[in-house]
Amino acid sequence: MLRAHILGTGFAVPDGVLSNPDLEKMVDTSDDWILSRTGISFRRIADQKTATSDLAYLAACSALENAGIKPQQLDMIIVATMTPDMPMPATACLLQHRLHASRAAAFDLNAACTGFIYALAVAEHFLLGSDYKYILVVGAEVLSRVVDYTDRNTCVIFGDGAGAVVLGKDEGDHGILATYLAADGEGWDLLKIPAGGSRYPASAETVASRMHYMQMQGSEIFKFAVRIIPQCAERVLDRTGLGIEDVDHLVLHQANLRIIQAAAKKMNIPWENVLVNIDKYGNISAGSIPLILAEAVSENRLKKGDLLLLIGFGAGLTMGAALVRWSR
Ligand code: UT7
Repeated sequence: MLRAHILGTGFAVPDGVLSNPDLEKMVDTSDDWILSRTGISFRRIADQKTATSDLAYLAACSALENAGIKPQQLDMIIVATMTPDMPMPATACLLQHRLHASRAAAFDLNAACTGFIYALAVAEHFLLGSDYKYILVVGAEVLSRVVDYTDRNTCVIFGDGAGAVVLGKDEGDHGILATYLAADGEGWDLLKIPAGGSRYPASAETVASRMHYMQMQGSEIFKFAVRIIPQCAERVLDRTGLGIEDVDHLVLHQANLRIIQAAAKKMNIPWENVLVNIDKYGNISAGSIPLILAEAVSENRLKKGDLLLLIGFGAGLTMGAALVRWSR
């Protein structure tokens, strides 16, 4: 059977580190609270000169090199992000230019923290439904630009970074076995950046009322995540006839360590089969899943034939999963 495969992975994080003691000096919080409620010790923060496309470019170069594919061979570039360099044009076009990937169609996809899973599913469909051979999928964010560092409900969680994968296609049992995407727009209000779009365009008032920053009802998102993660797992596994006991690595969106722990427990996935790096990087939205995947590859943690269960969730509300039989 023809399947889409992950041929190479890469990631990039900025050098700047923001620690819990640093945050203690900015808002009314404590290292203890942050660590016990989120599992986060550090986040990487981009300097003022670095935008999303810069991190995307570094992750993309590393993924292309890892895959042994030249940018000119790419048919498509999808950048999953909610912090594009600018509203228009797409960050994917800036990346296409910088890579000299002149044959590639390029667009951004915004499904917030589920963005990478959505982009992976779109890429898979293009690979299987067209003559496209190679697609670059990047999840990249500079969330520090939209985080309100006076709001302790959000500023302790988020960080900056990017991950990328190069997809190709081949016959066989390996590769992307199934994907599942869903959304529940009823919860659109729970996590948002209210201004800067057509509803509340930028004005002195929107800036003064801090409406260009992220606003989150954290505990509602927390409950949503723990509820839907096992459902997403079931949906995607059902499409293959495989069971949760077959999963070698659970690759969850790194939103909060307690969400990861609760979801793994609910699904009876042993902790040693769960990939975790939230302690070092915090929550990088669309960047988190490709970043942890690329980091696991760089640490030789994935073996050929391993079954990976990827699950994302976030603003929208969006959710999605992908089941991947590792082929390298
Ligand atoms: O990326 C996808 C989308 N995002 C997520 O998945 C995030 C999901 N949510 C979360 O990770 C958690 O809800 C948070 C980490 C954001 C918050 O943790 P929580 O355990 O849900 O806390 P809470 O919002 O229920 O607040 C409990 C208390 C409140 O005080 P009172 O009202 O009980 O006195 C908050 O004001 O903790 C307080 N609080 C803090 N205290 C110290 C909230 N943030 C902080 C803080 N430091 N940074």
